[in-house]
Amino acid sequence: MEKLASIQDSLNYYRDSFQQAAAQYDQTMTHHMELQKLIDDYSRFITDPHHQQIWERLQDEEAVHLSLIAEDLRHISAWCVALMEKYRALKLLEGSSGITDYFKNIESCIEQEFGGVQVTGESRVLMIGSGSFPMTPMLIARRTGAEVIGIDIDEESIQLGRSVIDQLGPELNIRLLSAPVEELDVTGTATHIIFSSTVAQKYDILDRLYPLTNRKVVVAMRYGNDLKSLFNFPLQETDPRKWKLTETILRPDQVFDIALYRKESAQ
Ligand SMILES: C[S@@+](CC[C@H](N)C(=O)[O-])C[C@H]1O[C@@H](n2cnc3c(N)ncnc32)[C@H](O)[C@@H]1O
Repeated sequence: MEKLASIQDSLNYYRDSFQQAAAQYDQTMTHHMELQKLIDDYSRFITDPHHQQIWERLQDEEAVHLSLIAEDLRHISAWCVALMEKYRALKLLEGSSGITDYFKNIESCIEQEFGGVQVTGESRVLMIGSGSFPMTPMLIARRTGAEVIGIDIDEESIQLGRSVIDQLGPELNIRLLSAPVEELDVTGTATHIIFSSTVAQKYDILDRLYPLTNRKVVVAMRYGNDLKSLFNFPLQETDPRKWKLTETILRPDQVFDIALYRKESAQ
């Protein structure tokens, strides 16, 4: 019982800490170290196999209470990850930069992202939720030569993201836009689409993409279920006549997993 109580205390602690960190953001670097430490601690917490077992027991005993905390944590931690990217961009633009565990996690996933459907120099990649520090677009464009288009609903993230690319990879074929998928000139010709795990509306956007995209497109949906759903939006059912789940890439040590979808009509 003691362990159950202590994990609940931890969840409350993380929720309060993320709320405080979000309130502190003032477009300067003043509080970035605290948030970096908090996100690194939280990443370890949700990938700890021991905590996974406790989480499963908690699900049985405290389902309603826990789902409320989980919902709060998912939203506030997603916002704080976006803030952490802003800090990282500001830090780079000020002239100093480091790399946290969270970003190492993301870097290590790029190779696995599309399973057998590799990105090449001929590909056109659309990323939904490209962020203030567009690591995925930059890595893909640099390693493969593909054209990458990133979209984000947050205007500050688009501006910071463009400045980061100007500094780290002005030669890369990347465009960042603040527009919905319906208004892009590339949606119909995209060969690969990546969803950031912390985009709350990702399954709604996936549904909207169905009539806009070509038959062969492959979608990599980053997600987190169970304990990882405290830091990611989880997998959802799709209309089987539209998007078919073809593969899940499980990454026990990483903060998110990846689901690959293709159009039913592509089979
Ligand atoms: C963690 S960040 C981006 C991921 C990271 N930069 C990478 O390269 O993997 C997630 C971003 O998604 C954006 N976002 C959230 N909801 C969105 C939506 N509905 N459409 C587009 N972007 C969204 C946020 O503003 C945030 O900047």
